[in-house]
Amino acid sequence: MSAHRHRDHWDDTEDAGPQRPARDFKRKTRKPLGRRRLADLTGDPATDSDPADDTIRRLTDLGYITRVVAELKSGKEATTYVAHGPRGSVLVKLYREFQARSFKNDAIYREGQVVMDQRAARAMQARSRKGLEMLQFDWVMAEYAHLWHLWRAGLNVPEPLAGPNVKTYAETVPAVVMRLVGTEDQPAPRLSDVKLTPGQARSAWEQAVTGMAHLLKLGYAHGDYSTYNLLWSEDTVTIIDFPQLSTRQNPNFQELRRRDAQSLSTSFRKHGIQESAESTLREVQRRALGPAPEPRVVLP
Ligand SMILES: Nc1ncnc2c1ncn2[C@@H]1O[C@H](COP(=O)(O)OP(=O)(O)OP(=O)(O)O)[C@@H](O)[C@H]1O
Ligand SMILES: [Mg+2]
Repeated sequence: MSAHRHRDHWDDTEDAGPQRPARDFKRKTRKPLGRRRLADLTGDPATDSDPADDTIRRLTDLGYITRVVAELKSGKEATTYVAHGPRGSVLVKLYREFQARSFKNDAIYREGQVVMDQRAARAMQARSRKGLEMLQFDWVMAEYAHLWHLWRAGLNVPEPLAGPNVKTYAETVPAVVMRLVGTEDQPAPRLSDVKLTPGQARSAWEQAVTGMAHLLKLGYAHGDYSTYNLLWSEDTVTIIDFPQLSTRQNPNFQELRRRDAQSLSTSFRKHGIQESAESTLREVQRRALGPAPEPRVVLP
Protein backbone atom coordinates (compact mmCIF):
# COMPACT_ATOMS: atom_id res chain seq x y z
CA MET A 1 0.00 0.00 0.00
CA SER A 2 1.42 3.32 -0.88
CA ALA A 3 1.68 5.98 1.73
CA HIS A 4 0.09 8.81 -0.17
CA ARG A 5 -3.43 7.48 -0.33
CA HIS A 6 -3.72 6.23 3.17
CA ARG A 7 -4.03 9.51 4.86
CA ASP A 8 -7.31 8.51 6.44
CA HIS A 9 -5.28 6.41 8.82
CA TRP A 10 -3.25 9.43 9.88
CA ASP A 11 -6.39 11.51 10.25
CA ASP A 12 -7.64 9.10 12.82
CA THR A 13 -4.60 9.39 14.97
CA GLU A 14 -3.26 12.89 14.53
CA ASP A 15 -5.55 14.61 17.02
CA ALA A 16 -6.62 11.56 18.93
CA GLY A 17 -6.07 11.14 22.61
CA PRO A 18 -5.34 7.60 23.74
CA GLN A 19 -8.92 7.05 24.85
CA ARG A 20 -10.66 8.63 21.93
CA PRO A 21 -13.37 6.34 20.55
CA ALA A 22 -13.27 5.54 16.84
CA ARG A 23 -15.96 8.02 15.95
CA ASP A 24 -16.42 10.74 18.46
CA PHE A 25 -19.58 12.68 17.76
CA LYS A 26 -18.91 14.77 20.86
CA ARG A 27 -16.44 16.61 18.68
CA LYS A 28 -19.39 18.32 17.13
CA THR A 29 -20.21 20.06 20.34
CA ARG A 30 -16.61 20.64 21.28
CA LYS A 31 -15.73 22.13 17.90
CA PRO A 32 -18.76 23.76 16.30
CA LEU A 33 -16.46 25.81 14.14
CA GLY A 34 -18.87 26.23 11.28
CA ARG A 35 -21.68 27.47 13.45
CA ARG A 36 -19.49 29.86 15.39
CA ARG A 37 -17.95 31.33 12.26
CA LEU A 38 -21.22 31.62 10.48
CA ALA A 39 -22.56 33.53 13.46
CA ASP A 40 -19.54 35.81 13.17
CA LEU A 41 -20.68 36.76 9.72
CA THR A 42 -23.47 38.76 11.20
CA GLY A 43 -20.77 40.82 12.94
CA ASP A 44 -18.25 42.77 10.97
CA PRO A 45 -17.55 40.99 7.69
CA ALA A 46 -14.70 43.37 6.84
CA THR A 47 -12.48 41.81 9.53
CA ASP A 48 -13.43 38.31 8.56
CA SER A 49 -11.18 37.10 5.80
CA ASP A 50 -10.96 33.40 6.52
CA PRO A 51 -11.31 31.70 3.11
CA ALA A 52 -13.48 28.98 4.69
CA ASP A 53 -15.88 31.63 5.95
CA ASP A 54 -15.93 33.29 2.54
CA THR A 55 -16.91 30.03 0.92
CA ILE A 56 -19.58 29.30 3.54
CA ARG A 57 -20.94 32.79 2.98
CA ARG A 58 -20.99 32.22 -0.79
CA LEU A 59 -22.82 28.91 -0.35
CA THR A 60 -25.35 30.71 1.82
CA ASP A 61 -25.77 33.55 -0.69
CA LEU A 62 -26.19 31.05 -3.51
CA GLY A 63 -28.93 29.35 -1.49
CA TYR A 64 -27.32 25.94 -0.98
CA ILE A 65 -27.25 26.20 2.80
CA THR A 66 -29.03 28.22 5.42
CA ARG A 67 -26.91 27.30 8.43
CA VAL A 68 -23.83 25.27 9.31
CA VAL A 69 -24.73 22.81 12.03
CA ALA A 70 -21.31 21.39 12.90
CA GLU A 71 -17.87 20.55 11.69
CA LEU A 72 -17.81 16.83 11.02
CA LYS A 73 -14.23 15.99 10.18
CA SER A 74 -11.08 17.90 9.51
CA GLY A 75 -8.57 16.06 7.35
CA LYS A 76 -5.43 16.79 5.42
CA GLU A 77 -7.12 18.11 2.30
CA ALA A 78 -10.68 18.89 3.24
CA THR A 79 -12.91 19.76 6.15
CA THR A 80 -16.44 18.43 6.08
CA TYR A 81 -19.37 20.27 7.60
CA VAL A 82 -22.91 19.24 8.33
CA ALA A 83 -25.24 22.01 7.18
CA HIS A 84 -28.89 22.70 6.81
CA GLY A 85 -30.25 23.57 3.40
CA PRO A 86 -33.55 24.50 1.82
CA ARG A 87 -34.01 20.90 0.60
CA GLY A 88 -32.74 19.10 3.68
CA SER A 89 -29.38 18.20 5.18
CA VAL A 90 -26.22 19.05 3.33
CA LEU A 91 -22.66 17.83 3.56
CA VAL A 92 -20.17 20.54 2.64
CA LYS A 93 -16.76 19.19 1.72
CA LEU A 94 -14.50 22.19 1.81
CA TYR A 95 -11.05 21.71 0.32
CA ARG A 96 -8.26 23.67 1.90
CA GLU A 97 -5.77 25.61 -0.15
CA PHE A 98 -3.34 23.32 -1.91
CA GLN A 99 0.14 23.64 -0.52
CA ALA A 100 3.16 22.84 -2.65
CA ARG A 101 4.55 20.38 -0.13
CA SER A 102 1.59 18.98 1.73
CA PHE A 103 -0.61 18.28 -1.25
CA LYS A 104 -0.45 14.56 -1.84
CA ASN A 105 1.30 13.17 -4.82
CA ASP A 106 -1.50 13.14 -7.34
CA ALA A 107 0.70 12.17 -10.30
CA ILE A 108 -0.44 8.55 -10.32
CA TYR A 109 -4.05 9.68 -10.73
CA ARG A 110 -3.35 12.42 -13.25
CA GLU A 111 -1.26 10.38 -15.65
CA GLY A 112 -3.00 9.99 -18.98
CA GLN A 113 -5.01 13.18 -18.49
CA VAL A 114 -4.53 15.76 -21.18
CA VAL A 115 -4.06 19.39 -20.18
CA MET A 116 -4.84 21.40 -23.30
CA ASP A 117 -3.37 24.67 -22.13
CA GLN A 118 0.42 24.46 -22.13
CA ARG A 119 0.84 27.46 -19.85
CA ALA A 120 -1.55 25.92 -17.36
CA ALA A 121 0.29 22.60 -17.60
CA ARG A 122 3.60 24.32 -16.83
CA ALA A 123 2.15 26.27 -13.92
CA MET A 124 0.71 23.07 -12.46
CA GLN A 125 3.97 21.23 -12.90
CA ALA A 126 5.95 24.02 -11.28
CA ARG A 127 3.50 24.04 -8.35
CA SER A 128 3.48 27.82 -8.48
CA ARG A 129 0.72 29.58 -6.56
CA LYS A 130 -1.35 29.93 -9.70
CA GLY A 131 -0.59 26.33 -10.62
CA LEU A 132 -1.73 25.07 -7.24
CA GLU A 133 -4.94 27.05 -7.55
CA MET A 134 -5.56 25.42 -10.92
CA LEU A 135 -4.83 21.99 -9.52
CA GLN A 136 -7.26 22.57 -6.68
CA PHE A 137 -9.94 23.83 -9.06
CA ASP A 138 -9.50 20.74 -11.28
CA TRP A 139 -9.54 18.43 -8.31
CA VAL A 140 -12.80 19.83 -6.90
CA MET A 141 -14.45 19.98 -10.33
CA ALA A 142 -13.43 16.37 -10.91
CA GLU A 143 -15.18 15.33 -7.71
CA TYR A 144 -18.40 17.00 -8.90
CA ALA A 145 -18.19 15.55 -12.39
CA HIS A 146 -17.68 12.05 -11.00
CA LEU A 147 -20.44 12.45 -8.42
CA TRP A 148 -22.91 13.53 -11.11
CA HIS A 149 -21.93 10.75 -13.45
CA LEU A 150 -22.19 8.06 -10.76
CA TRP A 151 -25.37 9.48 -9.28
CA ARG A 152 -27.05 9.51 -12.68
CA ALA A 153 -25.83 5.99 -13.38
CA GLY A 154 -27.68 4.85 -10.26
CA LEU A 155 -24.77 4.02 -7.96
CA ASN A 156 -25.05 4.46 -4.21
CA VAL A 157 -23.20 7.75 -3.90
CA PRO A 158 -24.32 10.99 -2.21
CA GLU A 159 -26.55 13.14 -4.39
CA PRO A 160 -24.64 16.21 -5.62
CA LEU A 161 -26.61 19.35 -4.74
CA ALA A 162 -25.03 21.84 -7.14
CA GLY A 163 -25.27 21.32 -10.89
CA PRO A 164 -25.58 19.31 -13.10
CA ASN A 165 -24.54 22.32 -15.15
CA VAL A 166 -20.76 22.69 -14.90
CA LYS A 167 -20.92 26.48 -14.60
CA THR A 168 -23.36 26.11 -11.72
CA TYR A 169 -21.22 23.80 -9.65
CA ALA A 170 -18.05 25.75 -10.49
CA GLU A 171 -19.52 28.55 -8.37
CA THR A 172 -19.14 26.51 -5.19
CA VAL A 173 -15.43 25.65 -5.60
CA PRO A 174 -13.43 25.01 -3.36
CA ALA A 175 -16.43 23.28 -1.78
CA VAL A 176 -18.50 20.35 -2.96
CA VAL A 177 -22.08 20.35 -1.70
CA MET A 178 -23.85 17.03 -1.55
CA ARG A 179 -26.65 15.31 0.31
CA LEU A 180 -25.72 14.31 3.85
CA VAL A 181 -25.92 10.56 4.36
CA GLY A 182 -27.52 9.88 7.74
CA THR A 183 -29.05 12.64 9.81
CA GLU A 184 -27.78 15.96 11.14
CA ASP A 185 -27.68 14.46 14.64
CA GLN A 186 -26.11 11.25 13.45
CA PRO A 187 -24.28 11.45 10.16
CA ALA A 188 -23.60 8.02 8.67
CA PRO A 189 -20.41 6.50 10.10
CA ARG A 190 -17.72 5.07 7.88
CA LEU A 191 -17.59 1.30 7.65
CA SER A 192 -14.15 1.55 9.25
CA ASP A 193 -15.76 2.92 12.41
CA VAL A 194 -18.70 0.58 13.01
CA LYS A 195 -19.19 -2.78 14.61
CA LEU A 196 -21.23 -5.11 12.44
CA THR A 197 -23.00 -8.39 13.09
CA PRO A 198 -21.74 -11.23 10.87
CA GLY A 199 -24.86 -10.85 8.72
CA GLN A 200 -24.35 -7.12 8.32
CA ALA A 201 -20.65 -7.64 7.58
CA ARG A 202 -21.50 -10.06 4.77
CA SER A 203 -24.11 -7.68 3.37
CA ALA A 204 -21.72 -4.70 3.57
CA TRP A 205 -19.03 -6.74 1.82
CA GLU A 206 -21.40 -7.83 -0.95
CA GLN A 207 -22.54 -4.25 -1.49
CA ALA A 208 -18.94 -2.98 -1.51
CA VAL A 209 -17.87 -5.58 -4.10
CA THR A 210 -20.92 -4.85 -6.25
CA GLY A 211 -20.22 -1.10 -5.93
CA MET A 212 -16.68 -1.64 -7.18
CA ALA A 213 -18.05 -3.76 -10.04
CA HIS A 214 -20.46 -0.99 -11.01
CA LEU A 215 -17.60 1.51 -11.01
CA LEU A 216 -15.61 -0.81 -13.23
CA LYS A 217 -18.55 -1.27 -15.57
CA LEU A 218 -18.53 2.50 -16.06
CA GLY A 219 -14.78 2.29 -16.72
CA TYR A 220 -13.56 3.62 -13.37
CA ALA A 221 -11.16 2.66 -10.64
CA HIS A 222 -11.94 4.51 -7.40
CA GLY A 223 -8.31 4.91 -6.37
CA ASP A 224 -8.97 4.87 -2.62
CA TYR A 225 -11.50 2.11 -2.16
CA SER A 226 -11.71 0.84 1.41
CA THR A 227 -13.98 0.98 4.45
CA TYR A 228 -12.57 4.50 5.07
CA ASN A 229 -14.53 5.73 2.06
CA LEU A 230 -17.67 3.66 2.50
CA LEU A 231 -20.48 4.98 4.68
CA TRP A 232 -22.92 2.73 6.48
CA SER A 233 -26.49 3.87 7.05
CA GLU A 234 -29.69 1.83 7.32
CA ASP A 235 -27.80 -1.30 6.32
CA THR A 236 -26.79 0.36 3.06
CA VAL A 237 -23.30 1.15 1.78
CA THR A 238 -22.67 4.56 0.19
CA ILE A 239 -19.42 5.16 -1.68
CA ILE A 240 -17.74 8.54 -1.14
CA ASP A 241 -14.58 10.53 -1.96
CA PHE A 242 -14.12 10.75 -5.72
CA PRO A 243 -11.61 13.37 -6.81
CA GLN A 244 -9.04 10.73 -7.77
CA LEU A 245 -11.27 8.41 -9.80
CA SER A 246 -9.28 7.07 -12.78
CA THR A 247 -10.26 5.78 -16.19
CA ARG A 248 -8.61 3.35 -18.56
CA GLN A 249 -6.76 6.26 -20.15
CA ASN A 250 -4.62 6.21 -17.06
CA PRO A 251 -1.65 3.89 -17.63
CA ASN A 252 -1.84 2.95 -13.93
CA PHE A 253 -5.47 1.85 -14.24
CA GLN A 254 -4.86 -1.88 -13.64
CA GLU A 255 -2.56 -1.15 -10.75
CA LEU A 256 -5.06 1.24 -9.13
CA ARG A 257 -7.80 -1.33 -9.51
CA ARG A 258 -5.64 -4.04 -7.98
CA ARG A 259 -4.81 -1.73 -5.09
CA ASP A 260 -8.50 -0.97 -4.56
CA ALA A 261 -9.24 -4.69 -4.32
CA GLN A 262 -6.34 -5.06 -1.90
CA SER A 263 -7.36 -2.19 0.40
CA LEU A 264 -11.00 -3.25 0.31
CA SER A 265 -10.24 -6.82 1.35
CA THR A 266 -7.67 -5.76 3.97
CA SER A 267 -9.99 -3.17 5.52
CA PHE A 268 -12.84 -5.72 5.76
CA ARG A 269 -10.76 -8.17 7.82
CA LYS A 270 -11.80 -6.46 11.02
CA HIS A 271 -15.39 -7.32 10.10
CA GLY A 272 -14.44 -10.98 9.83
CA ILE A 273 -14.37 -11.11 6.03
CA GLN A 274 -11.39 -13.09 4.80
CA GLU A 275 -10.98 -12.57 1.08
CA SER A 276 -7.78 -12.17 -0.89
CA ALA A 277 -7.18 -9.23 -3.21
CA GLU A 278 -7.03 -11.65 -6.15
CA SER A 279 -10.35 -13.36 -5.46
CA THR A 280 -11.95 -9.95 -4.78
CA LEU A 281 -10.76 -8.61 -8.11
CA ARG A 282 -11.96 -11.72 -9.93
CA GLU A 283 -15.39 -11.38 -8.31
CA VAL A 284 -15.51 -7.66 -9.20
CA GLN A 285 -14.70 -8.49 -12.81
CA ARG A 286 -17.34 -11.20 -12.89
CA ARG A 287 -20.01 -8.87 -11.49
CA ALA A 288 -18.99 -6.07 -13.85
CA LEU A 289 -20.27 -8.29 -16.68
CA GLY A 290 -23.65 -8.51 -14.97
CA PRO A 291 -26.50 -5.99 -14.90
CA ALA A 292 -25.87 -2.30 -14.32
CA PRO A 293 -27.85 -0.40 -11.69
CA GLU A 294 -31.04 1.39 -12.70
CA PRO A 295 -30.08 4.91 -13.93
CA ARG A 296 -31.61 7.90 -12.13
CA VAL A 297 -33.46 10.55 -14.04
CA VAL A 298 -32.03 13.97 -13.25
CA LEU A 299 -34.20 16.94 -14.12
CA PRO A 300 -32.24 19.94 -15.41
N1 LIG B 1 -22.28 12.74 1.94
C1 LIG B 1 -21.78 12.51 3.15
N2 LIG B 1 -22.60 12.24 4.20
C2 LIG B 1 -22.12 12.02 5.44
N3 LIG B 1 -20.81 12.07 5.74
C3 LIG B 1 -19.93 12.33 4.75
C4 LIG B 1 -20.35 12.54 3.40
N4 LIG B 1 -19.26 12.78 2.64
C5 LIG B 1 -18.21 12.72 3.46
N5 LIG B 1 -18.58 12.45 4.73
C6 LIG B 1 -17.70 12.38 5.92
O1 LIG B 1 -16.60 13.24 5.72
C7 LIG B 1 -15.38 12.50 5.76
C8 LIG B 1 -14.40 13.06 4.74
O2 LIG B 1 -14.93 12.95 3.44
P1 LIG B 1 -14.09 12.36 2.23
O3 LIG B 1 -13.68 10.97 2.53
O4 LIG B 1 -14.85 12.62 0.99
O5 LIG B 1 -12.85 13.33 2.23
P2 LIG B 1 -11.28 13.08 2.35
O6 LIG B 1 -10.63 13.66 1.17
O7 LIG B 1 -10.99 11.67 2.72
O8 LIG B 1 -11.05 14.04 3.51
P3 LIG B 1 -10.13 13.87 4.72
O9 LIG B 1 -8.77 14.18 4.22
O10 LIG B 1 -10.77 14.87 5.62
O11 LIG B 1 -10.30 12.45 5.23
C9 LIG B 1 -15.78 11.07 5.50
O12 LIG B 1 -14.90 10.18 6.10
C10 LIG B 1 -17.16 10.99 6.14
O13 LIG B 1 -17.03 10.75 7.52
MG1 LIG C 1 -11.93 9.91 2.48
